[in-house]
Amino acid sequence: MKRYYKWHAVLYDATRWTFLFGRQAMLRRLPALGSETVVAEVGCGTGRNLLHLARMHPEWRLVGIDVSPDMLRKASKATSRYSGRVQLFEQPYGADQFRLPEPADIILFSYSLTMFNPGWEAAIEQARADLKPGGFLAVVDFHDTRSAGLNWWMQRHNVRIDAHLLPVLAKQTTAVFQEIRKGWGGLWRYFMFIGEKR
Ligand SMILES: C[S@@+](CC[C@H](N)C(=O)[O-])C[C@H]1O[C@@H](n2cnc3c(N)ncnc32)[C@H](O)[C@@H]1O
Repeated sequence: MKRYYKWHAVLYDATRWTFLFGRQAMLRRLPALGSETVVAEVGCGTGRNLLHLARMHPEWRLVGIDVSPDMLRKASKATSRYSGRVQLFEQPYGADQFRLPEPADIILFSYSLTMFNPGWEAAIEQARADLKPGGFLAVVDFHDTRSAGLNWWMQRHNVRIDAHLLPVLAKQTTAVFQEIRKGWGGLWRYFMFIGEKR
């Protein structure tokens, strides 16, 4: 992952808006919690979402975790104006690895969970453990595709896209919002999910 993003970090923000759909909709959908809210993004990448959240919610404290130093360097630059309330950690996330400095109200995975291969189930379990009771797990990611070619291409880019995430997310939390949408005329589908920790 570190090697992959060493090169992809350079062009990431210039290219990914063309197919990482639903990120802005997901940010707008996050529960409007109060001033003490702590939000962690796992696999925060270049900090695109953290920057938007910092602007949208001046009172929220934000935590970004990513395993790639090259992506995190970009995130640090992107969020430098908000460094007083944005903390970044260069760590792999999953079972018995990194623990958040404090329990979070919301944990966001935005196009990261489909890249946790192996380890996506452990990451969901860890996020559940890192949430406060009543906290929310929010995920936007690829769902599925009927195209063998796209599936092959995704695998080459470390992405698993076979509808494996939603059933487990729904089992680990109580779904409060779920939507599956089409990308590029139905070539693939992506989903948005928000679940509450029981
Ligand atoms: C496709 S990018 C998504 C970045 C950002 N969330 C967004 O929406 O633009 C996936 C990110 O997940 C990170 N990642 C993948 N596996 C990880 C792991 N086990 N622990 C922490 N970060 C990981 C990658 O380094 C990468 O920055």
